[in-house]
Amino acid sequence: MSRSKKLIALVLSIVMLAGLAAGCGGAKEEAKKQLQLTLYCGLMEDHMVMTVKEFEKDTGIKVSAVRMSSGEILGRLKAEKNSPKASIWWGGPADGFIQAKADGLLDKYVSSNAAMIPAKFKDAEGYWTGIYVGYLGFVSNKKLLDEKKVSLPQSWQDLLKPEFKGQITMANPGSSGTAYTMLATIVQLMGEEKGLAYMKQLDQQIKTYPKSGTAPGRMVGTGEATVGITFLHDGIKYREEGMKDLVLSAPSEGTGYETGAVAMVKGGPDQEAAKKFIDWILTKKGQELGQAAGSYQFLTNPEAAAPKQAAEIKDVKLINYDLSWAGNNRTKLVEKWSQAVKK
Ligand code: G6P
Repeated sequence: MSRSKKLIALVLSIVMLAGLAAGCGGAKEEAKKQLQLTLYCGLMEDHMVMTVKEFEKDTGIKVSAVRMSSGEILGRLKAEKNSPKASIWWGGPADGFIQAKADGLLDKYVSSNAAMIPAKFKDAEGYWTGIYVGYLGFVSNKKLLDEKKVSLPQSWQDLLKPEFKGQITMANPGSSGTAYTMLATIVQLMGEEKGLAYMKQLDQQIKTYPKSGTAPGRMVGTGEATVGITFLHDGIKYREEGMKDLVLSAPSEGTGYETGAVAMVKGGPDQEAAKKFIDWILTKKGQELGQAAGSYQFLTNPEAAAPKQAAEIKDVKLINYDLSWAGNNRTKLVEKWSQAVKK
């Protein structure tokens, strides 16, 4: 080969090698871009599945999501503290998030989209951000009430009527954020001593304490129990899905409410994807999506439209629920409740 041909061959092979190297780099870049996210979700399964699909479509991030009740998520995060498997806790009352923050299970993340969310709905230090608000109340089975000739419960005191003995259901406050909201509401309304005495009396009326806060609405809808203590928007969902005998009422003494939240898990594996999820779920679209799956909470983003289905409960009498107190006293209060009712 002549010298000039050798030179051309050398230049060509350098160009080819450079191209190959660039190709490899590109593939690496691609692999890096395929973000993954594991999240624990405290909302209803259908809401979760639909939202995850939409988030994957919008961002290309592959999500693996598990639905659990609040107490279960807390337990899981504690057990995994040294080697976290999930990066996001999404949904469920903020009381649990406050406890998780105190237990060192959350990481700070202040999304730029959190700016428009009012201060009362988010942690001042940025450990969690509120996405929705739900009001606690009663769901009753109209057919069973009529059969027993009992009137609709209108107060916390009404639940203690002899006619309701063994007819009421609420979830276990240890596992369910809904039921813990109820326990914290009663203690805020009556004081600790009287509140726990009330819970003990109410225990005599309870048929069962299921694990999840949405179960009481379902049980009342199918006639397994007459009255359930639950978030009212969950009652609306079940009634809309065909449980026509469900009727809603709210206690005249006033009721508590949840601020449902989202947060980043401390040391979780997919921090970049986790931040993207929080940014996205705080948007108008992210907040309004749940309505298509029958999630009718009020929303914290002022740009997001509240579901019209929630209009019937918007004037319920609320207490001035002390979320920070409720979150910081969760472990102690659940323990005291367990001792009072021997559960
Ligand atoms: C349902 C409600 C949510 C609530 C959650 C609490 O999904 O729609 O508003 O935050 O239940 O679940 P838990 O099982 O912890 O009571």
